[in-house]
Amino acid sequence: MDGSTRKRTLLKVILLGDSGVGKTSMMNQYVNKKFSPHYKSTIGADFVTKELQIDDKQVTLQIWDTAGQERFQSLGAAFYRGAECCVLVYDVNVLRSFETLNTWREEFLKQQAHPAEPDNFPFILLGNKIDLDGGNSRVVSEWQAKEWCDSRGNIAYLETSAKEGYNVDEAFLCVARTALANE
Ligand code: GTP
Ligand code: MG
Repeated sequence: MDGSTRKRTLLKVILLGDSGVGKTSMMNQYVNKKFSPHYKSTIGADFVTKELQIDDKQVTLQIWDTAGQERFQSLGAAFYRGAECCVLVYDVNVLRSFETLNTWREEFLKQQAHPAEPDNFPFILLGNKIDLDGGNSRVVSEWQAKEWCDSRGNIAYLETSAKEGYNVDEAFLCVARTALANE
């Protein structure tokens, strides 16, 4: 069978986290290899797709970017349904964005489509903006983030820079593999 006739698997993943942590930038860097320093808040939610191959499987990763700003969040929740993996993003330089991770996780679990086994739903945590000020302005350590992940089951943690493209491909590959396992 050639590539064009082979069946593709659609994987829906969703990006959540406080406003300004870099969700849209992360997605843009991954899909378009572009970064803009200008901040334009996301309203509601939107998705992009990326085709990739994982082992012998052709998959289409459908990445949903949501609004971190509170006044737009009620719009976002409608899109949680049917996601196979949830990517939580925080900014390593902003303590509050780390402290709200729990709320994001719990809100997501409340809204999405697998209420039977919420503890087994796969999350991935990304600590973004590690490039900022050469790492001097960071307030959340890698150790703290890993601790957060370990105390909530098996959550993978990666540190990223959407600006420099650091670990961005790796992060989404991890997301895709996790989503595929949950498909
Ligand atoms: P909402 O849409 O409001 O939820 O925000 P968001 O999480 O989508 O944040 P966005 O991607 O719009 O980024 C916010 C600001 O941070 C922008 O000015 C980006 O240029 C900047 N930014 C994003 N990622 C990085 C990064 O890795 N490093 C640096 N230095 N800046 C970044
Ligand atoms: Mg955004």
